[in-house]
Amino acid sequence: MPEEPPPPVHIAVIMDGNGRWAKERGLPRREGHRAGAESVRRCVEACKELGVRYLTLYAFSSENWNRPPAEITALMTLLERFLEQKAEEMMRQNVRLQAIGHLERLPDKTRRKLEAAIERTAANDSLTLVLALSYGSREEITEAARSLVREAAAGRLGPDEVTPERLAGYLYTAGIPDPDLLIRTSGEMRLSNFLLWQISYAELVIFKKFWPDFGESDLFEAVGEYSRRHRRFGGL
Ligand code: IPE
Ligand code: IPE
Ligand code: MG
Repeated sequence: MPEEPPPPVHIAVIMDGNGRWAKERGLPRREGHRAGAESVRRCVEACKELGVRYLTLYAFSSENWNRPPAEITALMTLLERFLEQKAEEMMRQNVRLQAIGHLERLPDKTRRKLEAAIERTAANDSLTLVLALSYGSREEITEAARSLVREAAAGRLGPDEVTPERLAGYLYTAGIPDPDLLIRTSGEMRLSNFLLWQISYAELVIFKKFWPDFGESDLFEAVGEYSRRHRRFGGL
């Protein structure tokens, strides 16, 4: 029997299609977001079962600030509720919460709840759930470049010391291994400014179904597909 390939260490997900899911049912978009939060719970369960170490979920992009204020408010309220309700569950499941993105831009109340949940779960060590909030990859890389220039201007950094590793150390994701598998739901074949640096060698798996319809078996299917791929990293 050939040995079972190891599961991906890090799975990243572009959770797309909540609005279209709701539209199909004649419901307001926020109902789609509400149903999407249920998929998050299922996805965390499945990752725990598989022994995945990091799960990064794209929950709100820097471009999503351009949506109508009512939708933004609905999303923030949902996030607050999620943080309140799930903190307890994450403690039971030994799940650690982290967040990446321009978090200062979140409403104060949302940010406080996020920080409280991060702090409360900081010592948990089974799965790390990383929420990408107000996240944009170009912003992240620009911010890293700005930090490097600051170091250089202070005389602490020369041009030859600017390496990929050093730059990566200034990204929101510093200390988190790069994703092995990237999943996107609702069929769109694009990255929408998500982890552009970090997914250089991730395996991509796209699902046609909308995020609220995504369940444990879909995650298992994606991991199965991943394990059948031959990752070459530019070699043979
Ligand atoms: C994903 O669903 C959730 C967020 C981007 C916040 P969408 O809200 O993008 O749903 P669609 O793509 O319009 O169907
Ligand atoms: C990407 O979805 C962002 C999140 C899933 C949070 P979008 O719906 O914002 O992406 P586009 O607009 O289809 O590229
Ligand atoms: Mg969308």
